[in-house]
Amino acid sequence: MPSGRPTSDRPGDALLRAVSRATNAATTALDPAVVPGNAADAMVRFLGARRADVWRFDGRRPVHLASSGIGGATPASLPANLIRIARGGLAQSIHANELGNGVGIEWRRMLFTMDATEVSVHALVVGERVLGAITVVPEGSPDEHELEAMTIYAQQVAAALEKADLHRAAQDAAMSMRVQNRVLSELTDERDVPSLRAAVEQLVCDMVGDAAVAVLPVDSTGRLVVPMLTPPSDGTLRVATEPEVDLVAPALEAREPVRLTRPALRMCAQLGLSALAGHEDINDTAVWGVSLRVGERCTGVLLVGLPIDLDKCAFTDDETRVMELIRALAPAVSVALENAQLFAREHVRASRLAAANTLARTVTGSQTRDDLYNAVVLGIGALFGYTRSAMYDAELKTLTHAGTVPARGHDRERSLVSTALHRRRASRVERHDRTCHAIPLISGERIHTVLYVEQPDTVTPEQETDDLALLGSVCEHAAACLVAIDATDNIERNYKDTIQALVHALEARDQYTADHSDVVAEWALEAGKRLGMDEDQLRDLELGAILHDIGKVAIPDDILNKPGRLTEEEFEVMKSHTIVGERILKPIGFLKNVAPIVRHEHERWDGRGYPDGISGEQIPLASRIIFVCDAYHAITSDRPYRAGQPHAFARRILTENAGTQFDPAVVAVFMDVIDHYCIENDIVEAHDDQGVEIVNPLGAKVDAAAASVDEDAAAA
Ligand SMILES: [Fe+2]
Ligand SMILES: [Fe+2]
Repeated sequence: MPSGRPTSDRPGDALLRAVSRATNAATTALDPAVVPGNAADAMVRFLGARRADVWRFDGRRPVHLASSGIGGATPASLPANLIRIARGGLAQSIHANELGNGVGIEWRRMLFTMDATEVSVHALVVGERVLGAITVVPEGSPDEHELEAMTIYAQQVAAALEKADLHRAAQDAAMSMRVQNRVLSELTDERDVPSLRAAVEQLVCDMVGDAAVAVLPVDSTGRLVVPMLTPPSDGTLRVATEPEVDLVAPALEAREPVRLTRPALRMCAQLGLSALAGHEDINDTAVWGVSLRVGERCTGVLLVGLPIDLDKCAFTDDETRVMELIRALAPAVSVALENAQLFAREHVRASRLAAANTLARTVTGSQTRDDLYNAVVLGIGALFGYTRSAMYDAELKTLTHAGTVPARGHDRERSLVSTALHRRRASRVERHDRTCHAIPLISGERIHTVLYVEQPDTVTPEQETDDLALLGSVCEHAAACLVAIDATDNIERNYKDTIQALVHALEARDQYTADHSDVVAEWALEAGKRLGMDEDQLRDLELGAILHDIGKVAIPDDILNKPGRLTEEEFEVMKSHTIVGERILKPIGFLKNVAPIVRHEHERWDGRGYPDGISGEQIPLASRIIFVCDAYHAITSDRPYRAGQPHAFARRILTENAGTQFDPAVVAVFMDVIDHYCIENDIVEAHDDQGVEIVNPLGAKVDAAAASVDEDAAAA
């Protein structure tokens, strides 16, 4: 034995002390990665070995873990032989014990001669398992006691290894439970995929240090989706490209964590592992992945990218730990991802439903077809994120109303519109990057129009179905509103026709021209348009012009048709037609805005009119317009007390009285209207621009006629 061997008067005691020291040195550590090295060192230091090697049996062969001392390495065949024999011996021993016969422990060690050097091999056995072996090249030729001491020591090492394994397993279990608990408490509240990914990344970084995490969902059709990286990266997703899917495929298919083929840094960024992009060399990193599942259904994949130099990690020294972490994380992340996706889907549904209701209200408020078509085509673009939208005429198949981004109006669109018209229901066609829909708006037998929209291909089939159902109900609602608009149009038309018939009956009673109110209405509308009135204002203006003399039903015939000039009392009676007119119209809801127009149609710009004597812009614009048109028509029409004046004369009177009797702005616009009217109706007269005195057909001088303009206007 070498000098390092313990000396004693009683060799047995010395050996026991040596075994005890070696055991103490070898078994203090609790880390299975440290125990083998300590065991080999202690064998050399305390038990007289020139070289010692520790091997672990991995189920198939011995794996070299540690060595100590000098000399060449022991070939693996030696521990392999002993392990095979030991396992056999162990089996025999168990069998013998069952039979009640003890069997010796000779199989726990073997002696070999290797290149004239003796090598002893000692099995590492715990209970019924062979963990490995220690191969020892002694300094000299060990005796039976020394060999026995080494065997006893090997037993202690085996126990220490087992203890370290158990400690590691307990640590792993504790870590797994910690992860699960933390994941459950931290992830279940995450309501969207980006927040979930951030929470998982935080978790992983806390446990393994520098790491990048991606949580990539799989949509309802099994397509992998990844975050859009182009700004703003607001969580918008896109369908993964083929190379991306190919890279992730092993993880998607695996139920256990797998290490992916090392991806390029650009690919890491695309997959959401952008934190890895900070590493200069992709060879310094590893990407692990595992599928996320709910039952048998794969809902996504969890990827963890980390530096391969695991020294930086907080608690681990090999990738197996990371694998364990991913394994522990996967179930909770699966549940959280499912929840986040369900929540997102419901959130989208709820917000779209609310937006669809708002759109339905806008559609309901539309007064005209144009308003309704525009409301639908613009509203749905914003609501469903359609890239293009438009209305197509049901008969001509031409584009009538375009969305924010209009349809192209080309043949392929028209062909889809034709299909929808032919089938009388929504039709769709898939193009390479979008899906096109044509939805006819139908009520009863009538197809009003066809709505055409384009949806980007990032929309999942599930969402497309949801959107179409919602769009269908918006279209049904719109079609019902179109029926109501048509009905209202009909009612209004009939009403107007009826009122016009009444006015004509009134005009027949008057000796005034039969078309007075129609002509006044025609001029007033033209002037109103030129003055920028909107559709509703023009409607009220037209009705006001048609009805402005309705109050004359209350004027006795002898005043209404008096051939001479009215007395002051008669004139007062005649003036009452404005108030009577208002009283007739006011109770009719449909004409509530028209009544004040009729009341004020004889108010003067300077406030000297009637019935209220209001002035300037206090007078409704419609009344000011009617006043001008009415006066002009009165001057140029035959009256009971004089013949109609020439147009040029009427123009002059209006011009002279602009700013006193009439609104000058209205007169200026009216001049343009009447010019067009005269041209269209071939009315050519001598103009008085040259100062030529114009004489009216009855021979009265212009000045005299001008004096009666107030009266004309008043009675008009
Ligand atoms: Fe009047
Ligand atoms: Fe009139």
